Amino acid sequence: MKIFAPLSKSSLFVSEFAQDAFYYMKYCGISPFRDKKKSAYYKIIIEIHAIEKGLSLAQMRPLFGQQKIKAVMSMAKAYGLASNDLPILMTVGALEAYVETHRKLGLDDRFLNEVDAFLAERRIVSAERGDGGLRHYPAGVPAIDSPAGLLLSRFSCRIYDAEPLDHGLIRQIVQTAQSAPSQCNRQAVQVHYFDERNKVHSLLKLQGGASGFQDQVPGLFVVTFDLAAWGGAQQRNQGYVDGGLFSMTMMLAAHAHGAVTCPLNLAVSHITERKIKALANIPDDQRLVMMMAVGKAPSGALRAAASPRRPVDELLKLHETAAGIEPS
Ligand SMILES: Cc1cc2nc3c(=O)[nH]c(=O)nc-3n(C[C@H](O)[C@H](O)[C@H](O)COP(=O)(O)O)c2cc1C
Repeated sequence: MKIFAPLSKSSLFVSEFAQDAFYYMKYCGISPFRDKKKSAYYKIIIEIHAIEKGLSLAQMRPLFGQQKIKAVMSMAKAYGLASNDLPILMTVGALEAYVETHRKLGLDDRFLNEVDAFLAERRIVSAERGDGGLRHYPAGVPAIDSPAGLLLSRFSCRIYDAEPLDHGLIRQIVQTAQSAPSQCNRQAVQVHYFDERNKVHSLLKLQGGASGFQDQVPGLFVVTFDLAAWGGAQQRNQGYVDGGLFSMTMMLAAHAHGAVTCPLNLAVSHITERKIKALANIPDDQRLVMMMAVGKAPSGALRAAASPRRPVDELLKLHETAAGIEPS
């Protein structure tokens, strides 16, 4: 009967969204049922990355992040200081860079000795070098020297020239990014661009993840998608998949056109999403995917957070292959 079709569709919405909530609440990093080792792994990476970012800013605040560093050092000890997992290697790399950067500035402080003592403790239990801290680009943005080089030389830039990009170049970047695939070629992604200083500043205040460099961001993309392109409970997340693919392509497009970018999360509440939409004049039937700082890098030497990557075998699971079943 006709009446049952919409009813069963609506109940599918309720049950699918409810199961999303169930899975998230069961396994996310703050759940009492979480895998504690896994969540410590991610937590340390997230926290120490904030220190890498602080080091990479144009105006580094001397002795910044002391509480965070103390927390990371104790989390690293609880994780296992002898471990050579990425969170520990990243902690060592970032803290070495922290001490070195401060000492180069001629700063000395009891806190640096505390960090030194932590690093010395680590050296006793492992000779493995740290991985992380800063990436230095003495000659500015690296040249793209091969097809893979386009991907490998992109980095999140948090230092910008004050001048926004020419709108012609912005169009070119977005047009190049339109090479991104989309489900059934829907192309439901929308790109909103801002370079009016006060507007960029206000939007970044709502975003919240660009503190330390938000005053220097010359241009800002807000990537959204049209809800009307999707239907049915099963498709509820697909706009974000297309939006993510588009955003990545846009970062590479910007890089290919000589610009630099920094992806900026929109992990915000509905209230904040509505505030951003109102401020940015984004229609209500669009959902926000992410923001992206965009501009030119200043001329001369440049630095960026190292953001080291996990060993590939931590994420590549070769299941059954043509050569037979791989040992796990
Ligand atoms: C969806 C997304 C959101 C991000 N949000 C922020 C952010 O709010 N602030 C920031 O400084 N970096 C942000 N980043 C940048 C990451 O820190 C960066 O991509 C990561 O450390 C890897 O470094 P790389 O981009 O230089 O390779 C974000 C990245 C992604 C993919």
